[in-house]
Amino acid sequence: MPSFVFHAPCPFGLEELLSREILALNADPDLVRPGKGGVSFAGGLDLGMAVCLHSRYATRVLLRVAFDEYWDSRDVYSIARRTPWEKWFGPDVTFRIHSTANRCPLESLDFATLRIKDGLCDRFNELAGRRPSVDRRRPDVRLEAYFTFDHVSFYIDLAGESLFKRGWRLEHGEAPLKENLAAALLALSGWTPEKPLVDPFCGSGTIAIEAASIAANMAPGLKRSFAFESLSGFDLDLWQEMKEDARAAVNLHAKVRIEAHDISSIVVEKAIENARRAGFGAMIDDGRLLFSQGDAREIEAPQGAEPGLVIANPPYGEQSNPKSASIAAMMRDFAAALKSNFPGWTAWLLTSDRLLPGQMRLKESRKIVLFNGPLECRFFRFDMVAGSNRRKPAAN
Ligand SMILES: C[S@@+](CC[C@H](N)C(=O)[O-])C[C@H]1O[C@@H](n2cnc3c(N)ncnc32)[C@H](O)[C@@H]1O
Repeated sequence: MPSFVFHAPCPFGLEELLSREILALNADPDLVRPGKGGVSFAGGLDLGMAVCLHSRYATRVLLRVAFDEYWDSRDVYSIARRTPWEKWFGPDVTFRIHSTANRCPLESLDFATLRIKDGLCDRFNELAGRRPSVDRRRPDVRLEAYFTFDHVSFYIDLAGESLFKRGWRLEHGEAPLKENLAAALLALSGWTPEKPLVDPFCGSGTIAIEAASIAANMAPGLKRSFAFESLSGFDLDLWQEMKEDARAAVNLHAKVRIEAHDISSIVVEKAIENARRAGFGAMIDDGRLLFSQGDAREIEAPQGAEPGLVIANPPYGEQSNPKSASIAAMMRDFAAALKSNFPGWTAWLLTSDRLLPGQMRLKESRKIVLFNGPLECRFFRFDMVAGSNRRKPAAN
């Protein structure tokens, strides 16, 4: 099978996780290269489809269709004009081009993008007598251009909608986490399905639903469609087989214990609806996946459970619920509940507030820098060993 170059962008901090995931899909280890905010890899189109279907961490999968040296925007036009776009789509689709750059010397990236569009359209006009039209909002085909100092790459987006959209989310709770970041929190915390999991600030249920999906071995892309399904050149019979295999691997009977709570009963209702849409109704019905309204300040460990993990992104900044007074005071009370009711557990909290450990009067045993969209965050680990994690009182 001919080899293609791909680039899978992901949130900053998830590159290593994503590399391992791509390697697990049988990519050639010599061709998998983690960079900043993404991983490049090479292989057949089947590998590109597999990453779309199975990746929990990637945001998109981009197929490189041109890579060339340029000097000015005339070169950019020529490269676009000689790129064989027609191998992948015809003149009747709609498209949009998004450009990013690193040390690009061109005066205007917008103008360079326009020249790519001109080159592409002129090529189709010459070949077919008509050309695809631009649709910035809901294009059939999304193209990406990436400019470095002297090279430009053109990519076709194989995902369409971002890959963190797993296809189940109807209603957004307050500031939902992206599913790929939720998956990373679970992986970085060391959670595995045998360990009980509690999210006391569950919002729309992202962490709990992602955990259920991992426990059930459900491929994250099983419930959605992808842009490559409408492109030429992809073996759709093979794609059906890949999906069949993924479906056969799902185990909805997996033993798991996940509890998710939120102070807002409306939000909890939405989380339940989301979890059912994601296919985990059976887990809800027999109590393996439990959502309930509750205040984190009064949280208790699941009855009879071995110590496990608390993983959450608590509210910060303006996201607080009016019921929960000041966030700092609420987090202090939440910490008190953790200390008394969760001995032996490990709590991991994602926050953009660096002062959180101080507010909670806990000393973190680890912190990992992650980005929640553009927001730089810390993922703090607190070990709930009774008595030992209190901060020392100040000397005076
Ligand atoms: C940042 S959001 C969590 C988002 C969630 N991870 C998601 O993906 O949708 C914080 C949540 O904490 C909830 N919350 C605020 N105060 C709370 C409290 N005292 N106890 C429980 N939940 C609370 C809010 O209702 C909100 O849904």
